Amino acid sequence: MPSKKSTDPYLHVSNIYAHLMDFISYKWWAKYLYSITKNKLIKNPRVLELAAGNGSLANHLTKIYKNYIVTDISLNMLKHNDGNGRKICCDMIAIPFKTKFDLILSSFDSINYLMSKQKVLQHFKQVKNILSDDGIFTFDTALESNSYKHQKTALNKGRTKGFKFVRKSIFNPKTKIHKNVFTITYPNGKEYLETHTQKIYSFDTFFELAEKSGLYVVNCYKAFSFTKGKATSDRVQFIMKRKA
Ligand SMILES: C[S@@+](CC[C@H](N)C(=O)[O-])C[C@H]1O[C@@H](n2cnc3c(N)ncnc32)[C@H](O)[C@@H]1O
Repeated sequence: MPSKKSTDPYLHVSNIYAHLMDFISYKWWAKYLYSITKNKLIKNPRVLELAAGNGSLANHLTKIYKNYIVTDISLNMLKHNDGNGRKICCDMIAIPFKTKFDLILSSFDSINYLMSKQKVLQHFKQVKNILSDDGIFTFDTALESNSYKHQKTALNKGRTKGFKFVRKSIFNPKTKIHKNVFTITYPNGKEYLETHTQKIYSFDTFFELAEKSGLYVVNCYKAFSFTKGKATSDRVQFIMKRKA
């Protein structure tokens, strides 16, 4: 099986990502994020989306927010974005901006790609440095019960645009590491293996690291809802601000 070393974590999955996510309405998601943040934001905010992937959320949010920068560590994911916004390839723990943003966001477990608490702390510190005084930082994160649920649908397969794929989902409750192993067959018959490794943190970790980084939690919702998030939720949506 050929496997060219690449630093792009979504080199191959970028080809099938839109298909993997077609169960979700990004239009609805964008409205949800707008509704939980709008009362906390200034007019015409400067927006930075981190780990934006193929920009599906940005394609909707840029209809509301005109000053919007889309970023991701994967150049191939960014290439699959057909929006007109500014796109920059960067790591969310090495954010290359000096200007301040009024809204900084990431979605769909992107923060779980940071494999240590130290990296999450570094990420929070960097976000804090470029968050305007009254700015809002919001992201969602998968918690442990989400990983157990995925074990039930541990194997799935599909095809899209001539690509075939098989996905295996494996969660290790001891290390709290969740792996998604993709085997992707290109239209020309070549097969590639791509493993996505994510760390599942405890609910309390985010409060602890926010505190250490100079941020604080304004709200934490059960994701996609307006009810309070809990340690037992599948996924939670944090809203943080800078401490004074
Ligand atoms: C599950 S996808 C989510 C993409 C998009 N936010 C969405 O909701 O569809 C995770 C994304 O995180 C990106 N990513 C992983 N590690 C990253 C890092 N250290 N810095 C920036 N982006 C990262 C991946 O390239 C991928 O596009």
